[in-house]
Amino acid sequence: MNDEKPTPREGPVTYVVEHLDPELGTWSALEYACIARESQAAGARFLLTSVPASLQLPEHLAKTEALEVEQRSVEEIFADKKSKVCLLDPAAKLDLSPSDGDQFEVFLFGGILGDDPPRDRTSELRKKGYVGRRLGPKQMSTDTAIRVTRMVVQEKVPLDKIPYIDNPELRINEHESTELPFRYVKGSDGRPIMPEGMFDLIKKDADRGVDDLL
Ligand SMILES: C[S@@+](CC[C@H](N)C(=O)[O-])C[C@H]1O[C@@H](n2cnc3c(N)ncnc32)[C@H](O)[C@@H]1O
Repeated sequence: MNDEKPTPREGPVTYVVEHLDPELGTWSALEYACIARESQAAGARFLLTSVPASLQLPEHLAKTEALEVEQRSVEEIFADKKSKVCLLDPAAKLDLSPSDGDQFEVFLFGGILGDDPPRDRTSELRKKGYVGRRLGPKQMSTDTAIRVTRMVVQEKVPLDKIPYIDNPELRINEHESTELPFRYVKGSDGRPIMPEGMFDLIKKDADRGVDDLL
């Protein structure tokens, strides 16, 4: 039997979003600003990597203090500690557990828009050979995926003890509502936790459909 425990992590947890889309739209910008604020409050770092020099960040995001923007890719930055990087991967065999917070230092996410059905663009990161962990069977927005990872690895709440809301229906006006085909964390007010400004954006975008927006 192997009783060896992983060496406890030194330093803060780091969350990395590898930006994989050619653009950075309003939806992603709201998510990234929210991730930066929540990571800072939890004593963690947040890096947005592979951001082309030519990409103009929206002003509010560029001004977000807790966000570290990197032109380098995750592979370059963490080349010397690949085994300490965990890719959050909807196709991974094992689900994330609180003890993964001791084994890994860096949690890596695909900076891609949610889509329904999912196109498995996380495969672009999977092929780099990182160890993968799943956050359950349902697709989450990137900020939700990081929120859930933080609850598991920093707050040590098991994945199946987190309260979720699946496919929430948001009321746009008296006559219309729209369903978001993703999993969210349920807030203390009983509503899905979303980045500030997201609900207003969804209302504005309601006519365009939400299949390719998160
Ligand atoms: C909005 S999701 C995009 C998933 C996307 N549809 C795809 O093609 O892979 C953005 C990122 O959140 C993470 N993520 C979302 N749901 C997840 C889940 N159930 N398990 C593990 N990671 C998840 C992954 O890192 C993923 O790349």
